[in-house]
Amino acid sequence: MAKELIRIDNISKSFDGMSVLKNLTLSIHENEFVTLLGPSGCGKTTTLRILSGLETPDEGRVIFDGEDITHLPPNRRQLNTVFQRYALFTHMSVAENIAFGLKIKGLSAQTIKEKITYSLKLVGLEGYEDRSPSSLSGGQQQRIAIARAIVNEPKVLLLDEPLGALDLKLRQGMQYELIRLKKELGITFVYITHDQEEALTMSDTVVVMNQGKIQQIGTPEDIYNEPQNAFVADFIGESNLIDGIMVHDRLVNIGGLDMPCVDEGFGENNPVDVVIRPEDVELDNSGAGQTQGTVRSIVFKGVHWEMHVESDTGITFLVQSTEHHPVGSRVGISVDPYNIQIMHKPSSEDARVFDQSEASAVPGENYEP
Ligand SMILES: Nc1ncnc2c1ncn2[C@@H]1O[C@H](COP(=O)(O)OP(=O)(O)OP(=O)(O)O)[C@@H](O)[C@H]1O
Ligand SMILES: [Mg+2]
Repeated sequence: MAKELIRIDNISKSFDGMSVLKNLTLSIHENEFVTLLGPSGCGKTTTLRILSGLETPDEGRVIFDGEDITHLPPNRRQLNTVFQRYALFTHMSVAENIAFGLKIKGLSAQTIKEKITYSLKLVGLEGYEDRSPSSLSGGQQQRIAIARAIVNEPKVLLLDEPLGALDLKLRQGMQYELIRLKKELGITFVYITHDQEEALTMSDTVVVMNQGKIQQIGTPEDIYNEPQNAFVADFIGESNLIDGIMVHDRLVNIGGLDMPCVDEGFGENNPVDVVIRPEDVELDNSGAGQTQGTVRSIVFKGVHWEMHVESDTGITFLVQSTEHHPVGSRVGISVDPYNIQIMHKPSSEDARVFDQSEASAVPGENYEP
């Protein structure tokens, strides 16, 4: 792993007595693409504003390259931010928008011109210097906002849902461009999204947050395949989240049915949460399977069929399969032991964030980032 560039050290923040970030600790490494992922209101923007110096934490420190920058003003930090809603100056041309920060720095006209050309090339908008922002599409405007940020050659680029306002096709195009920019420029990216697919596609490291707390830090693969708690499992992709009883090591009981798994160390006869991905439920219409069930619904999703299958033991599984099983048909149901993920049940009120996540998924009312 590359060298640690930023350390968020045990940060807490409250607004009007309401706790928004709770003991957040996170390491960000050089040239890493780190994504903060979580539902609306979980504290992503607040974390980014603390990094950029627009907000001061109540407790904890921000360390940049070994130096405590917790109280350093934004303009003295080697970070640049692109916000959710790109704010281009509409009375200025594209070139003037990009040049804005450079002029403040007092660079020569020739250097500024070269930098504008270079940054426009990076975002695929060569020749757009004299256009007015209002004559550009949303995606083009957002690319100008990104060009304006990278032209200052920040060590770190902070991006707060920079693609949020774009339609799906543009978003996907921009996702690839940002990944390319990261490779070409060697900058560290701290990226915010509440779109799990975007997070999994773009990141080296995903930080899943809920209610001001980090739920899990890991590679996209870790987060998807090994969610550490029910919140992460539910937030990342669709999954079957089922109450189970851990009979003993490597055997879990789901709805009265004993199913072999590979997890150990959850004790004996303890309640656990069980996660099974829909693509990992195997159906069979020749009578084989760990249990039997009936198909209750089926819809075509483009690449696979999605079904609800009710087992005779009373559990309804969400199933994705390339095979079609009509409604009402009888099927065998099985799950490979490796595809059963066991998790501890939240033990304290505090850990019960998952149950409250519905309630918290409401954006802050009067708050504009
Ligand atoms: N300056 C402020 N004054 C009061 N409350 C604030 C302020 N900034 C943030 N909050 C509150 O803190 C909580 C976290 O807000 P934050 O903007 O960090 O969430 P977020 O994860 O970025 O959400 P979203 O996905 O909706 O952008 C919200 O409840 C918000 O209303
Ligand atoms: Mg936000």
